[in-house]
Amino acid sequence: MTAKLIDGTAIAAQIRDQIAVDVQKMQTEYGVVPGLATVLVGDNPASQSYVRMKRKACEKAGIASFPNELPADATQAQVEALVQQLNDDPKVHGILVQLPLPKHLNEEKVLGLISLHKDVDGFHPLNIGRLAMKGREPLFIPCTPHGAIVLLEEAGAKIDGANAVVLGRSNIVGLPAALLLIHRNATVTVCHSKTKNLPEVCRQADILIAAVGRAEMVRADWVKPGAYVIDVGSNRINDPSAEKGYRWAGDVAFDEVKEVAGAITPSPGGVGPMTIAMLLKNTLRGAELVVTGRVKDLI
Ligand code: GUN
Repeated sequence: MTAKLIDGTAIAAQIRDQIAVDVQKMQTEYGVVPGLATVLVGDNPASQSYVRMKRKACEKAGIASFPNELPADATQAQVEALVQQLNDDPKVHGILVQLPLPKHLNEEKVLGLISLHKDVDGFHPLNIGRLAMKGREPLFIPCTPHGAIVLLEEAGAKIDGANAVVLGRSNIVGLPAALLLIHRNATVTVCHSKTKNLPEVCRQADILIAAVGRAEMVRADWVKPGAYVIDVGSNRINDPSAEKGYRWAGDVAFDEVKEVAGAITPSPGGVGPMTIAMLLKNTLRGAELVVTGRVKDLI
């Protein structure tokens, strides 16, 4: 292996330890325990597992966790009423509606209903709009792309002036990742299913963020020697030789790309743990905005 391994698990653990200290401090100084409410609609096993991990991480950091579950056939009115109730609950400083929602629900309306100062996912249109604009401050930055940027910074990547390529343009990762890179003065190319000469475009990247959801799509000859490669993908693939009959793989063919890249995240063990660490950080920030009264300046 020639690339430096960017250990997301270790970096996230350090961040979580600091959050636990800050949570304790807030409790001592203000008598306030930060609280995160999760909203899970339906029984998608992957969503159930993600929400469980987020709740466990909260508990370990001393953050109160308020789980809410609705059946797969919940109505738009039921989901909206629940969000409204959580908006009104002073013990709740962050609201996380796990996506995707069942198809019959209007995701845009639900996300737009979350109070700006509790929008710990950073998916409210006003937070995303502020993220997109120069000189504006979103209350929260979306967790996964923010985690990816922190990993780049921790690994010593020079983002300023770099050619960055983002593979994928999703609302949750690709789009906000591109915005965060622009704010840090990278020259950003966003690639998607219609992009021509994809390997060639990727080979120009000093920084490559892969967030397409296609197992091991990025091959060694797509990567510029010495590039920083951040793999956001988490794909379950069949593997008869594995004990369970499947294994998890990122969007990057790790075994071959690690021989070309300068630094690379594994998947699992890279961006995933950072998403959770950033969510805890945002929840703590939600509580801080309230206890310090800063929230009034930002909404
Ligand atoms: N589904 C996949 N990633 C995320 C995320 O970061 N937040 C929420 N709410 N749903 C998701």
